[in-house]
Amino acid sequence: MSQHPDSDSSSDSFSEGEAFDVRKVTTNRLKEMKTAGVPIAALTAYDYTMAQLVDAAGVDVILVGDSVSTVMQGLETTVTVTMEHMLYHTTLVRRGVERALVVADLPFMSYQVSADEALRNAGRMVKEAGAEAVKLEGGRVVADTVRRIVDIGIPVMGHLGLTPQSIHKFGTYQVRARDEEEADELRRDAQRLEEAGVFSIVLEKVPAALAAEVTKSVSVPVIGIGAGGGCDGQILVSHDMLGICTRFNPRFVRVYANLAKDMQAAFEHYARDVRASEFPSVDESY
Ligand code: KIV
Repeated sequence: MSQHPDSDSSSDSFSEGEAFDVRKVTTNRLKEMKTAGVPIAALTAYDYTMAQLVDAAGVDVILVGDSVSTVMQGLETTVTVTMEHMLYHTTLVRRGVERALVVADLPFMSYQVSADEALRNAGRMVKEAGAEAVKLEGGRVVADTVRRIVDIGIPVMGHLGLTPQSIHKFGTYQVRARDEEEADELRRDAQRLEEAGVFSIVLEKVPAALAAEVTKSVSVPVIGIGAGGGCDGQILVSHDMLGICTRFNPRFVRVYANLAKDMQAAFEHYARDVRASEFPSVDESY
């Protein structure tokens, strides 16, 4: 399925309504998709097998999110995720991906202390783990750092609205920017991120009308999560939409499968078979 980013394929550019292009996804391709009005599909992955499946399904962007904390590590927040965790999971994901753009989250405190440290950590994510871009949270506060990272050749995705790394400041995972003051800040943050050179912005859990307005106001693709249908694309946490993680079920998650139930049933069936000496059979033995 994979092709070199510059190689010719059935289409050189997107036409209205075209949903899928087999070429390797690049940051430029995402910009073209915004211009052509082709919605961008993004999902998270944290390991090789899941990344392979998500990529083979034609999802455009795979985010190695710091949601790894809640999904894989059984934690309540993302704040304790380390660079080493993210490097490890990004390495696994990268091995499974041929077409999608692989974006890795920079974890909390890996980019806030100084731009130099942010550069070093963004560089590690690309050089050691194979990420093709990094994502970090915040607007004006991180804009200069974003500029420095972009200037050395690493694409940056911004993240505004509900920024989970700031959960202890917010005190809640509720919808952000409902009041005009915070909405205005968000509008300004989006502008600053665009000026700083981000290739895309994730907007998490903000009112749909505001998300649609911000999406129109910037030239870079805006990927929404709990931000309504007016964004250029959508992202969900894979384990949520697969119904594997069921303890977190906000209304913005559409659950496409009920894998927790199926997996549980399969595990129970296996345990019953072993206990009843029904596994393995003669055919399953050597
Ligand atoms: O960490 C993550 O999975 C994310 C998405 C929710 C956008 O940042």
